[in-house]
Amino acid sequence: MEKKILVTGGAGYIGSHTVLQLLLGGFKVTVIDNLDNSSEVAIKRVVELAGDFGSNLVFHQIDLRDKPALEKLFASTNFDAVIHFAGLKAVGESVQKPLLYYNNNIIGTITLLEVMGAYGCKKLVFSSSATVYGWPKEVPCTEEFPLAATNPYGRTKLFIEEICRDIYRSDSEWQIILLRYFNPVGAHPSGYMGEDPRGIPNNLMPFIQQVAVGRRPALTVFGKDYNTKDGTGVRDYIHVVDLSDGHSAALQKLFDSNIGCEVYNLGTGKGTSVLEMVDAFEKASGKKIPLIMAGRRPGDAEIVFASTEKAERDLNWKAKYGIAEMCRDQWNWASKNPYGYESPDSSN
Ligand code: NAD
Ligand code: UD1
Repeated sequence: MEKKILVTGGAGYIGSHTVLQLLLGGFKVTVIDNLDNSSEVAIKRVVELAGDFGSNLVFHQIDLRDKPALEKLFASTNFDAVIHFAGLKAVGESVQKPLLYYNNNIIGTITLLEVMGAYGCKKLVFSSSATVYGWPKEVPCTEEFPLAATNPYGRTKLFIEEICRDIYRSDSEWQIILLRYFNPVGAHPSGYMGEDPRGIPNNLMPFIQQVAVGRRPALTVFGKDYNTKDGTGVRDYIHVVDLSDGHSAALQKLFDSNIGCEVYNLGTGKGTSVLEMVDAFEKASGKKIPLIMAGRRPGDAEIVFASTEKAERDLNWKAKYGIAEMCRDQWNWASKNPYGYESPDSSN
């Protein structure tokens, strides 16, 4: 019998790519999303790309904090596990509107956990973030590093991790994998799915992409005086398809073992500077990205990249793609959908 997986936030960037992998892997998938930061077109694209498996996807527009709606869903379907992506993720907005972030991310997660517990579904994969390492004292970051958060968004990730550790301590039937993503970029190689942020992008790659398609005049580089190879910040960029594979590996681990509550980094273990990323994107797209060199962005760390050993060892998972493939697929998506899912030829 196919396993039934509930995916919260499955219309979003990472969620939609993961849902496609799950469908192709033979899972039955229910997505809930309030579409706050996503489009139902993403769901339609997933169904199309999944071919014969597309009929194994059910979508409900539900807010995570709507407990009666969640209860109804769990009463109608026996889920084997939940992958929990749903959450707000804009760091700057979280500083301006902390209560919105605490309400959405923390209350939403507690509501989900309560309903899961009540219906005896105690297997969870949660989207945490490398942001919980703050400004790491050294690299690569291992999972045992001290945790810190410099903004409300990061604190929601930290708190939710702690909540998960607490519920496991209180009830060892829970099996939870916390995945700390480094910097997800790229798009599905079909060019049919990708990241479609609302408003001005906060993150590097979506911004570069919008400069390349002519939506913005130049990329502002935040900081050229870091102690790095070229003075710009260094990060661990990971292809979203590799990241999705990491979720399949985590799910498998939940089904194959009594893991308890464990945390894994999902990164490549390689650091790339802002200027190296710009260079790779220019090569992939053939477009020139005009740069404005500016001061550091408050709260930014200098160098962050992952130790990948634990995930390789325990989950048998390793990222396959490099920067060239990430930029190639990002450009393929951008050039076909310059306005994301709202692009004129994206209407069906
Ligand atoms: P995204 O915004 O594209 O996807 C999140 C989805 O959750 C959206 O579709 C949104 O509409 C939905 N959502 C938000 N609040 C909801 C609620 N209360 N009820 C129902 N649906 C809700 O973001 P993403 O990049 O796909 O990120 C997915 C997860 O991974 C998030 O939890 C994010 O914090 C985490 N994460 C992302 C990154 C990154 O760089 N993209 C890095 C580390 C961690
Ligand atoms: C940011 C968030 C982090 C979140 C992560 C993934 C902050 C302080 N941190 O991390 O909490 O988990 O995104 O969503 O916002 N850069 C530019 N110009 C830009 C954008 C970025 O030079 O317009 C630089 C940054 O200074 C950084 C690198 O590009 O050196 C990557 O930035 P970004 O994509 O925002 O990711 P993080 O800073 O790692």
